[in-house]
Amino acid sequence: MYTSDGGLAGLHIVLGLSGGVACFKSAELLRVLTKAGATVQVVMTAAAEQFITAVTMQALSGRPVYTSQWDAREPNNMAHINLTREADAVLIAPASADLMAKLAHGQADDLLSLLCLARPVHTCPLLIAPAMNREMWAHPATQRNAAQLRADGTVILGPDNGDQACGETGDGRMLEALDLLAEVVSFFQPKSLLGKTVLITAGPTYEAIDPVRGITNLSSGKMGFAIARAAAEAGAQVTLVAGPVALDTPRGVRRIDVRSAQQMFDAVLPAAPRHDVFIATAAVADWRPAAPATHKIKKNADKSVPSFQMTENPDILASVAALPDRPYCVGFAAESQDLLKHAREKLQRKNVPLVVGNIGPATFGADDNALTLVDAQGHTELPRADKLSLARHLVAEIARRLAANTA
Ligand code: C5P
Repeated sequence: MYTSDGGLAGLHIVLGLSGGVACFKSAELLRVLTKAGATVQVVMTAAAEQFITAVTMQALSGRPVYTSQWDAREPNNMAHINLTREADAVLIAPASADLMAKLAHGQADDLLSLLCLARPVHTCPLLIAPAMNREMWAHPATQRNAAQLRADGTVILGPDNGDQACGETGDGRMLEALDLLAEVVSFFQPKSLLGKTVLITAGPTYEAIDPVRGITNLSSGKMGFAIARAAAEAGAQVTLVAGPVALDTPRGVRRIDVRSAQQMFDAVLPAAPRHDVFIATAAVADWRPAAPATHKIKKNADKSVPSFQMTENPDILASVAALPDRPYCVGFAAESQDLLKHAREKLQRKNVPLVVGNIGPATFGADDNALTLVDAQGHTELPRADKLSLARHLVAEIARRLAANTA
């Protein structure tokens, strides 16, 4: 999933297609790249034209497709130079085994390989999405080429594992369009948390009353999942401990699903000391039924109403903050009023260096939010925006504080 901000606004990408069945996915990739805000210039090899026509790619990109280094439309007849001088990146999807071999050796006998060689490597990075039969991918020659390409600075996206057009199953499938989009968007994000480990809780918890009923809350998990994605984009290794939500796991994030506050506590506490940062976005239930019924509680003929003894749940954030080798802890405060006052009070009560305040009823389930960051120095407002944009800002703010702490 990508959000309204798209993540590629203002960027110009050369999308190269080499020959392979996966060319059928390139039309969808082109569509999502442009929807995310990029302008896209398509370049196809002769083999790619066997699988999909330039007509489709021209219609979707709104630009004539380049297929030859001898294209006379260019006034100087140097398409291989002109195309890369205006590009922020070259993305080749699909990248065939043959094209990878050519790129690894610096061969340049058609427009696509030629422009890759002619591109300015420091301003125009090369990303490739291999797509081929599993034996071709596993072949030592292809693996040698992949290693050489990586050493030359090429970013290799995938390949994926699964069913192949040839009927075999294994490594070599091109990543799906939305996965490639997520990779490209991530590539362009600043790497402010490179090498850091981040642990995040997200979503509501569910506290059982009996095997079919329970107490929960309206937290959607969207803010926490957006923060997990933003932290991964910033280069961190991210573990996301999620309450019961039906959201897709952001690419590259390790997810642990839990249901109750106690399960969330049990997943978080042993892991916390191994992390540089802990961000508690989960709306953890404060109390749970002390003794959930083993079987469904039935209605009584006398219409008596059941009552429950409640007991307090462990405070996950306060417990992590009390660890001797604690990570940098960030708490959330979902309030309905007096945001600043409550957030500041939480900063002290939980003994954490940063609390992020938001108005709960105004954001639960929504795709946008507004955040107030409160620390010992003062407070910073992050005005209303989509949750992914806010998450990226928050991650940058956390990275800045972390760097200042360890300086
Ligand atoms: O305790 P309170 O709900 O006021 O504080 C909210 C913050 O504490 C959030 O960061 C939430 O994730 C965290 N919290 C927790 N464990 C609890 C209750 C809240 O980690 N049992």
